[in-house]
Amino acid sequence: MALTTMERLRSETVGIDVQAPLLSGGTRAFVNLDNASSTPTLRPIVEKVDEFIEYYTNVGRSTGFKSEVATWAYEESRSAIARFLGADPVADTVIVTRNTTESMNRLATLFPFKPDSVVLTTLMEHHSNDLPWRRRARVVYAGINLEGSLDMDDFAAKLREYRGKVALVTVTGASNVSGWVNPIHQLARLAHEAGALIAIDAAQIAPHRPIDMKKPEDPERLDFVAFSGHKTYAPYGAGILAGRKDMLHPAEPSLVGGGVVDLVTLDSIVWRGLPGREEAGTPDVVGAVALAAAAKLLEKVGWDNITRHEDELTAYALERLGRIPGVRVFGEAKSDGPGDRIGVIAFEVKGKSNQLVGAALACEAAVGVRCGLFCAHPHVFALLGLGREAQKHACGDASCGRIADLPGVLRASFGLYNDRSDVDALCDTLEAISRGEHAEYDSDPKTGECWPKGRPRLNPADYFSLMPRLPA
Ligand SMILES: Cc1ncc(COP(=O)(O)O)c(C=O)c1O
Repeated sequence: MALTTMERLRSETVGIDVQAPLLSGGTRAFVNLDNASSTPTLRPIVEKVDEFIEYYTNVGRSTGFKSEVATWAYEESRSAIARFLGADPVADTVIVTRNTTESMNRLATLFPFKPDSVVLTTLMEHHSNDLPWRRRARVVYAGINLEGSLDMDDFAAKLREYRGKVALVTVTGASNVSGWVNPIHQLARLAHEAGALIAIDAAQIAPHRPIDMKKPEDPERLDFVAFSGHKTYAPYGAGILAGRKDMLHPAEPSLVGGGVVDLVTLDSIVWRGLPGREEAGTPDVVGAVALAAAAKLLEKVGWDNITRHEDELTAYALERLGRIPGVRVFGEAKSDGPGDRIGVIAFEVKGKSNQLVGAALACEAAVGVRCGLFCAHPHVFALLGLGREAQKHACGDASCGRIADLPGVLRASFGLYNDRSDVDALCDTLEAISRGEHAEYDSDPKTGECWPKGRPRLNPADYFSLMPRLPA
């Protein structure tokens, strides 16, 4: 029988067959269920990068054939990414950064806040869409519902309470903890009605749902969007900040040096226009080309194919996890919550530390997940029902370096190449773990990290060396 598009993508996923050692002896193909952290890349993207690297030279500086091709490829990548986001060719700029974190920091630096400006965000944000704002404005947080989705009533109430002061609303497209997708266009309409602009942290949504920034005059327009290549099948170091040129143009660029100027004398500097003035130094040309190739590939595969496959896989995983005694899923679908979620599932195994479960999944079944607080500490605290007092206690521990006993949960997250066999590997092993059928583990008293009792730690140097071959 002919393979489906998704099956073909799985076979073209780089590293899909990498063998991981098992505690019982032997190996098994590693099951990557931490795509919310980073996705692997896909063979067609690597091929595009290999093809481009033949032309690699610096861009916008050198002369000659290769530089012309490389400069064109870089600018064409920018245009492809703009189209991927539905950015406006006139009103918006697309700045190549390193990742979402840099994009959000840069937006926070450039945005023209007033001394009493308020940023309205939510309790479900990754730290990258929280901490940069704390430096620049008063930050107000809309709450979340019990199952982790955004509390729309609280969002609207906060917008009313701080009306006239909210300069910027900034929300994640989808939660990196509970997978809930936010109604970003509805939020944009509310923000604009209140006289604010809106920024979207698209790190989690970009690989799973189409993004449309919409026309500048549309009340549901997204004013700024940030995302990362390494979460979108292009782990080559580039990220993106796209959005309103007129708001990203203070007197000076955020970083200064080569590339951001048209002329420098000892007395004066003529700054370049956007996006160049925000891309100081030599840009990540290869990363941008890879990201554009990934964007084009996702569009070619088709969002219907991607969402249908990932939704089906998420439903299957939720159903299987829900049947394992002792496993608690956070943010399980509830009829009163918004229907849409991506394949990001937070869970715990009652009575077992998240680090022990993570180690048992890795060592006994070659399954990789994420443990801990997922750089979204307030969100996980809220899901765990840990109030201010418990948080204060945890802060006390952390500030003394005692991180072993911090609260935390586990997270499984899917990419378009995962299939039911991956979910089965996770759930079959969790069934055994929840029955207590797992090896014994030692744990680091400082960090809580676990490894099989009496065994040496994994030595990565046995598997990978940085030494290139010498040309024969
Ligand atoms: C929702 C969200 N925002 C921002 C980030 C930060 O992305 P990066 O590490 O690429 O800067 C992440 C990373 O996990 C994320 O999940």
